[in-house]
Amino acid sequence: MPQEQFFVTGGMGCIGAWVIRNLVQAGIPVTVFDLSSDQRRLELIMTQVEIARATFIHGDITDTVAVGQAVVDSGARHLVHLAALQVPFCKANPPLGAAVNVTGTVNVFEAAKKAGIAQVVYASSVAVYGRKEEYNTSLLPNDAPLRPHTHYGVYKQANEGTARIYWQDDGLASVGLRPYTIYGPGRDQGMTSTPTQAMLAAAQGEGYHISYGGYNGFQYADDVAKLFIQAARTPIQGAAVFNVKGAVAHMSEVVAAIEAAEPGVKGQITYEDRPLVFPEGLADEALRAFLGEIPDTPLQEGVAQTIAHFKQALADGRLPQGGPAT
Ligand SMILES: NC(=O)c1ccc[n+]([C@@H]2O[C@H](COP(=O)([O-])OP(=O)(O)OC[C@H]3O[C@@H](n4cnc5c(N)ncnc54)[C@H](O)[C@@H]3O)[C@@H](O)[C@H]2O)c1
Repeated sequence: MPQEQFFVTGGMGCIGAWVIRNLVQAGIPVTVFDLSSDQRRLELIMTQVEIARATFIHGDITDTVAVGQAVVDSGARHLVHLAALQVPFCKANPPLGAAVNVTGTVNVFEAAKKAGIAQVVYASSVAVYGRKEEYNTSLLPNDAPLRPHTHYGVYKQANEGTARIYWQDDGLASVGLRPYTIYGPGRDQGMTSTPTQAMLAAAQGEGYHISYGGYNGFQYADDVAKLFIQAARTPIQGAAVFNVKGAVAHMSEVVAAIEAAEPGVKGQITYEDRPLVFPEGLADEALRAFLGEIPDTPLQEGVAQTIAHFKQALADGRLPQGGPAT
């Protein structure tokens, strides 16, 4: 059997870095395609020796030819597409957001088709759903109606449509995963990054005010990375999209988990008592039916691991002291 080989777009990002780490540590060749060459997230979770085992291509996902060439040249059979601009960046510059998130995704599917790759795995998001009052259940099933209320959510919905048409017209299979709030080392930007910023502050013995509250789905970055890899390895016929559930918890439980891991900051981690507009959580029965056993680190454990990781990184100089990175 030929050895597995992965192509990962957006590999310098939070989820991407964890995907690269998992692949490299398992000895699997991986080509990373990203516009950024800033290795700080990789350096936070990998050794230099591990980083050196990946192949890096500096490129723009909006460049159809460059993406196509890179995927073909890589020889990869598995493609994980994570490159995107997050909610605040799409809001600030919708045309650029559409170019990266919509055209970029079309480019990835086109490249997969050109390279004869059978299945693409890509990141969708909870943002394809509407406001919580538009649904009569708090844990949304996979097939709940899509009613995005941000440019970002509309672009993610377009990605799901793109995937459907590539299956319909070209027989190119795909799996889209819809995470909610990713937390863990490397989560340093985007609308829902403030719970992780609070964990970093706690690791430094400092207080922090989280920008939102209410109930949310929380997924540990390493778990989500493993899900993308697992989905790439599990053949499917069609263009499936799955909700990712993780831990559904109130922000007070996140604060309690931070305080349990770092009792020195008790009372100093606070949150804005204003929930996100999204439903409280996502149901993942369909994902479990597809993948079987999936990683699902309990919130308390994921928070404790994140803070321990930050403390170690601060101690050995992989994170600057004095406030969260932005
Ligand atoms: N973080 C979350 O909570 C969350 C939740 C739901 C969905 N997602 C989705 O998961 C994916 C990964 O999220 P993340 O948290 O790792 O994001 P991130 O912002 O940390 O990483 C995104 C990566 O994409 C790269 N990128 C941006 N524009 C590019 C371009 N033009 N060409 C090539 N690369 C480009 C960036 O350099 C970055 O390394 C994204 O598609 C995101 O929308 C994330």
